Amino acid sequence: MFDYIDGAAGAEISLADNAGDFARLRLKQRVMRDVSKLDASIDLFGEKMSMPLALAPIGMGGMMRKRGETQAVRAADAIGIPFCLSTVGICSLEEVAKAATRPFWFQLYMLKDRGAVSDMLKRAKAVGVKTLLFTVDLAVVGARYRDIRNGLSGGGGVFSRLRAGIVDYLLHPQWLLDVGVGGKPHVFGNLSEYVPEATTPADFRQWVDGQIDPGVTWRDIEWLRREWDGNLVIKGVLTPEDSQAAVDAGANGVVVSNHGGRQLDGVASGISALPAIAERMKGRAKILVDGGVRSGQDIVRAVASGADAALIGRPWIFALAAEGEMGLKRYLSLVKHDLGVAMALTGTTSIDEIGPEILDRP
Ligand code: FNR
Repeated sequence: MFDYIDGAAGAEISLADNAGDFARLRLKQRVMRDVSKLDASIDLFGEKMSMPLALAPIGMGGMMRKRGETQAVRAADAIGIPFCLSTVGICSLEEVAKAATRPFWFQLYMLKDRGAVSDMLKRAKAVGVKTLLFTVDLAVVGARYRDIRNGLSGGGGVFSRLRAGIVDYLLHPQWLLDVGVGGKPHVFGNLSEYVPEATTPADFRQWVDGQIDPGVTWRDIEWLRREWDGNLVIKGVLTPEDSQAAVDAGANGVVVSNHGGRQLDGVASGISALPAIAERMKGRAKILVDGGVRSGQDIVRAVASGADAALIGRPWIFALAAEGEMGLKRYLSLVKHDLGVAMALTGTTSIDEIGPEILDRP
């Protein structure tokens, strides 16, 4: 599980660049401004958010803690930011909706079974989802060598099966009790009715891998636009051309993302691709960015580079794995606090005031 979260594709160069490119953006300190009143809240897709941040969709999040996605949505709601449920989450749309107190977001992949896609859209709408993140950077699955080594994508020899099975269980008794025994069923909640014969995450992964449609084009997004009348955000663009195509197909926003470095190793980080995309979009679509966002300072860097908001993936899942809902609340409070400090010391009192002038470019 640790390697599944921590790892990425290939030699993990894009993974390192994601956080590295954020760190290299220097902030410009400004002093002697009245920063006694700070407001980090924004309105995005008709929703009030306490800061420009949302929890990115993470497949199998529910394997890190007992019914993990329900704990995560409660933490996100408490802090006032959106939680995005993955297509391949452990908890279903309906289970998350029961735990949620505000609308959450849903992430979908284009599956070959368009009937299942349509059906999930209807279910999402029925439980009050208003914003759909449609992930487009998974035409094929990236080569994630840590998952292969750990047998997470199937296969593996006897030694690898022992190490990732019985030995690992014995070394992690707390996880075994909390999730292994107490967190059942370990199924992909959103998909269980379409793959009734699947009983383990591995069975589901096999189905999903077979369902990934490498033939998808922008024409399919036009179809999707007709099926989904809520906010449509295309996740996984890295060029102005693709962002333009997403908007032309009817999207309300894009997520500039390299999927946390898990797809094509060697591509640009989201934060480095962002300024050119923001320039091309110029207010015609909302722009989110992810990959390497770790702190409140990074949120300021993202907004200064042209984003309306940022997503975090690994940080939230690590916080959840460490201490469940309480740990995630604590982490999000720290980020919010950091964001306040970063705003105050760059002399900005609202998110609108954060622009490229607060970056100290080398
Ligand atoms: C992901 N990501 C992802 N994206 C998506 O659209 N659907 C998914 O099911 C998943 N699953 C997933 C699992 C794990 C373990 C990780 C780490 C990532 C990508 C995710 O939404 C986001 O784009 C990145 O995680 C952002 O990068 P950071 O914040 O992890 O650096």
